[in-house]
Amino acid sequence: MTPTSLTDGACSILNTAAPEEKVALSHRVAALWRAGTLDILGTMRPPERPARPARPELMSPRDMPRRRHAGSDGNRIALLHAIAHIELNAIDLAWDLIARFGASDLPRDFFDDWVEVADQEAKHHAMVSARLNELGAAYGDFPAHDGLWEAAQATAHDLLARLAVVPLVLEARGLDVTPDMIARLERGGDHASVAVLQVIYDEEIGHVAAGRRWFEWECARRDAEPVSTWRDLVARYYGGSPKPPFNVAARNAAGIDPAFYAS
Ligand SMILES: [Fe+2]
Ligand SMILES: [Fe+2]
Repeated sequence: MTPTSLTDGACSILNTAAPEEKVALSHRVAALWRAGTLDILGTMRPPERPARPARPELMSPRDMPRRRHAGSDGNRIALLHAIAHIELNAIDLAWDLIARFGASDLPRDFFDDWVEVADQEAKHHAMVSARLNELGAAYGDFPAHDGLWEAAQATAHDLLARLAVVPLVLEARGLDVTPDMIARLERGGDHASVAVLQVIYDEEIGHVAAGRRWFEWECARRDAEPVSTWRDLVARYYGGSPKPPFNVAARNAAGIDPAFYAS
């Protein structure tokens, strides 16, 4: 099936359960978009929840088994598995943003940015999955939690709320915690996993930057003040404010003014 529009392509990806197919179709739709062969808007609506494989089993965050002792092989595999799961969610979150909020009054740049994000998330999931395979494991081997899609559902009614929570809280949080993960893997001598996480880290700065750019663009369109608007939306739809420590250098690189997250 070749989509004729970007939003129909996005919906087809959301309706695809197998991770390898979700990745392949993401790269294909991104290439078609860049080649200029797709209309923006089609006729399909995104599903309430994306299709997912039978495994991993999805649990509520509080039922998740505890990680094994830090530094053990099992712990390293559990960490990579958790990242693979986050990246699979991230593919769907990017396409859901396009499919759900795509509208004729958004500039082409908006779609260029989120297609780029989706394409990179697909690469991230594939890289981490391949690394799991090298370590004798596979995505699906462990249970995973469903917290990320809860954030998507809570913000499904409003582009500004979605941008406030997904890129500017959750992906920004990834920037805060990844350097420590990289350092732990480095200490354990796992240079191949370090290389994978470094690619992810560098590209995630761009995802947070895209979130910031379009959040501010949408605020300007609504004549809303960005910092207080962000704080209100995060309190309402995330249920609190992000907690330190913050990776100020990475957040600065993404163009997030410390006024957003300073207490
Ligand atoms: Fe990612
Ligand atoms: Fe991302």
